[in-house]
Parts: sequence; structure tokens; C-alpha cells
Amino acid sequence: MVFIDVADILAGGVSGGVSVRGWINNSRSSGGIMFMLLRDGSGLLQCTVRREAVGEELYGKLEGLHLESALELSGTVREDGRAPGGRELSVEGVGAVYPAKLDYPIVRKEHGVEFLADNRHLYVRDPRLQNIFHIRAKFLEAARDWFREHGYTETQSPSFMTASVEGGSTLFNVEYFEREGVYLTQSWQLYAEAMISSLGKIYTIAPSFRAEPHRTRRHLSEFWHLELEEPWTDLAGIMDTGDALVTHIAHTLANDVPEKVRKAGRDPAELLKLETPFPRISYDEAVEIVQGEGVEMFWGDDFGWQQEGPLTRKFDSPFWVVGFPSGIKPFYHMPDPDRAEVTMSGDLMAPEGYGEIIGGGQRVHDYDQLHQRVLDDGLDPENYSWYLDLRRWGTVPHSGFGLGVERVIMWMLGLEHIRDTIPFPRDMRRVFP
Ligand code: 4AD
Ligand code: MG
Repeated sequence: MVFIDVADILAGGVSGGVSVRGWINNSRSSGGIMFMLLRDGSGLLQCTVRREAVGEELYGKLEGLHLESALELSGTVREDGRAPGGRELSVEGVGAVYPAKLDYPIVRKEHGVEFLADNRHLYVRDPRLQNIFHIRAKFLEAARDWFREHGYTETQSPSFMTASVEGGSTLFNVEYFEREGVYLTQSWQLYAEAMISSLGKIYTIAPSFRAEPHRTRRHLSEFWHLELEEPWTDLAGIMDTGDALVTHIAHTLANDVPEKVRKAGRDPAELLKLETPFPRISYDEAVEIVQGEGVEMFWGDDFGWQQEGPLTRKFDSPFWVVGFPSGIKPFYHMPDPDRAEVTMSGDLMAPEGYGEIIGGGQRVHDYDQLHQRVLDDGLDPENYSWYLDLRRWGTVPHSGFGLGVERVIMWMLGLEHIRDTIPFPRDMRRVFP
């Protein structure tokens, strides 16, 4: 038997007799007719079973199956305006059946957040989540396409390392054989700066880890980090790259999977409206906007949730905030040659209250300057000896950034919470299931 994907049936490319297989997402029957919503990896298909067509015994057996039983069905595809997706399968035969053992715990009523988190291993089957995970896959595909078209090479860095990249307060300590002071990486960046002298323009898509002590709608303790690094590039250059990449991803989602985007909660037309270049404002201007909104902030403070909310609600496209004070950025940021108290850094903010989605900028490439920055930040140069070494042989101006995959998906789809952008979200309270 050849099985057809539900998505292909819904796309209209299939007619006549077919076989499908999947899980029973929902089922109801009355008066000898049963509507079964069958879910496979690609989507949901209404399958209609008539008692007179399949016989009393089989009908009874199908009627008795719990939700999330799996089975093979064959029949005829018909157009039907009342069916979700406009097509249905009129069932004529049943193949293998894999019955669920118990009643399915997730029923069609409102469950609490904790209950759904406890049952995440089952809840990932939910059609709303399935739809978001399909979009997530498309998102990463679009990013890789863009990198390939623009001459970037994908490369990897280790997840175990002995130095902080983004400050000590969010480091996860790891028991690493006999060795003390080993952590899970916060960013590939330091290794990326080594790799640009090997491969040139590079990127990675990999998990980063932050021991974020807060439970918020936008922090995970393990998130997917899309990072890139380029030699011979300054802050302006890296922002151009960010504009083009983010716009390409948004347009690809809107053009290739508009129905999925709409179902997730965003009108694809809004994504198509994005245009490069995104506005760029200085940190100083951003502080003034926040203050103008009546929210407390002093020059030199970092943006928190209270500040980013009102700031980003002033914009309807992403925008860059550039030139953060050196006191709130890690040691590797290049000081502005014209204004030593600020750095050549840029954060991309998503509008509508979503806030920071990219952090990056130009790196210090001079040995002495970097050594001083390490000391100024209270770090031990021993831990950064190999990183400092990079500035001894062929050090050139270079820049890069990190984009939080879940943050961008959350904004692009207009989601309330970061947890639904990733199958098994990790936060300070959740490592199980
Ligand atoms: O701004 P961050 O900390 O920058 C870096 O790590 C740089 N070393 C990146 C680089 O230049 N290669 O993190 C970058 C982005 C943030 O803008 C945010 O989108 C995301 O990573 N991010 C998180 N996403 C989810 N949960 C968290 N706890 C995150 N922390 C950062
Ligand atoms: Mg940041």
C-alpha cells in the first residue's frame, strides 16, 4: 500500500482512491456516521466512516478506539466545503490499527499551563503546536538558504567551555571529569572569532545556555542561537546583514507557508510589509523615548522588560539600538573611537512590545585594547589566553551577532509566550519531561 501525506491531499494534488495513516486527533459519531480527524506528520484530515460502507463490526471497532490510537485508512478523496481544509476522505477500508491503551489525558477543554507542561511529551501532538513546529523548520531552512546564497559557511563550536562570553551571572556549571570551572556555552562567539581566520564568513545554528534566574515570557535556559561572524566588517555592515536576513526569513514564511502563519496568529501581509533597512536609533535616543513614556531609566542602565515594552510599542517594524554604554556590554565590544564611553554595538528590537531579538556588534581586534577590556571587566586574562592570542596573528576588524531563534519566531507569529516556539522548552523550573 502506498500512503499519501495528508498535506498533499489538502493541497489538492490527489484524487480518487488513496491510503493514509496517522493518529486519531478527534472523533465523533452519530446515526451510523463517524467523523474522524486523522493527524499525520503533515496535517489534519477529516475522514468519514459510514456504517453501511464498512460494516457493523468494523464500525463498532473504530467507534471504540480511544483518541490518539493510530491506524491506516483507505478510501476516496472528495471535495467538501464543510471539512477543515476543504477535502475529506470517505473511508472504505481499514488496515493496521494501533489502539491507544487508555483515555487520552489531553481533552478538548482548557487545561492549565502546568498540566500541559507536565504532559508536554503528548501535547507536542497538538495541531496548534504542530503548525508552529512546521513553521520553525521552515524558518531554519530559510535562514540556511540565505546563508548559502550569500557565501557563508556553517561551522560549529563546542558547548563545554571554560570562560564566560556574556557575563558570569548566567553561567551553568558543569561537572567535567576532574576539571573545575567548566560551563555550558552562552554563545559560540569566541570560537567564531577564531574560525573567521579559517573559513571567512561563517554561521551556526546551535543551542546556547543561560542560567536565567527569572521566569518570563521570553527567556529560556536553553535556546537556539543563530549566530554569524564576519571578518572585514564593521557595525554598520553587520546591521545590513541582520536586516537582509530577518527580512528574507519573514518573506519566506509569508510566501511559502501563508496559511500556517495565519493559523499561528499572524497575518502574512504584515510580514511581507517588512522592508530593509530597519530604522537605527542611538542608545541615547532610546533612553529619551523610554523616559518620555514615563518609565524610569537613567543613562547607563540596561533595558529590561519594563523599558523594552514601551520603547518597542512605538515602532511597527524592527529597529536597531546602537551605541550601548560599555558598562552594560561584555568586554569584547569595541569602544567607539569618537566616544569612549559607548561601544560599537547594536541590538535589534522587535516591535509591538516583543523587544530584543538580536545582540551583536564590532569586536575589539587590537591586542592591548582587548587585554585592558578583560581586566576592566574583572575577568582573569588566563581564561581568555587563547582568545587574546587571536589578536597576535592577522587580526582584522570583524563583527557578528546572535539571533534568538525562539524570540524571532515568537514575534513573527505574534505569540504570547516563548514556550510554544520550541518542542520541549527549558526554563528554571522545567527540565522534565
Ligand atoms: O544579546 P546576547 O546575549 O548576545 C550574545 O550572546 C552575543 N555573544 C552574540 C554574538 O554576537 N554572536 O544574545 C543574543 C540573542 C538575544 O538578542 C536574544 O534574541 C537571544 O540571543 N537570547 C535568548 N533567547 C531566549 N532565552 C534567553 N535566555 C536568551 N538570551 C539571549
Ligand atoms: Mg543582548
